[in-house]
Amino acid sequence: MPAETRCESGIKEMVEGIVAETGSARSDLIPILLRISTECSYISEEAIRQLSSCLRLPESEIFAVATFYHMLLTQAHGRHIVQFCESAPCHVAGGREIFQALKDLLGLKPGETSQDDRWTLFTTSCLGVCGIGPVVMVDTDIYGHVLPEQLPAILENYR
Ligand code: FES
Repeated sequence: MPAETRCESGIKEMVEGIVAETGSARSDLIPILLRISTECSYISEEAIRQLSSCLRLPESEIFAVATFYHMLLTQAHGRHIVQFCESAPCHVAGGREIFQALKDLLGLKPGETSQDDRWTLFTTSCLGVCGIGPVVMVDTDIYGHVLPEQLPAILENYR
């Protein structure tokens, strides 16, 4: 069954299908969450409830894992996700100016989605590429040594 159809056909069936294909051990949790996040674009509370029942793990444990990894999203979002690294190494490399410029350009605060559903802005902790800070990530693309004046051109790539 195509991924979109499976997600749309019902959270319970989707989660049960992914668990059947991936496995139901504790060590399968992250691969399962990645698949849910990919197929449904984020991991909803209902998906966590169903997964808790399937894996016999507490919802709180699943939620903790889902919110720990920046590539797993637990809320609905726009077509493009802009993430700004707010950890100290990026901060001291000019991150404060980048963050302010991003908020001004998008007209968003962290966690907000634009009215046209094009952008969601998130902050994130270290993305593991501190040497090229300040770092901005758009969807899966990482931009390093970003200057405020470069932001319009970067965002223009995601029309
Ligand atoms: S502190 Fe920003 S990537 Fe590590």
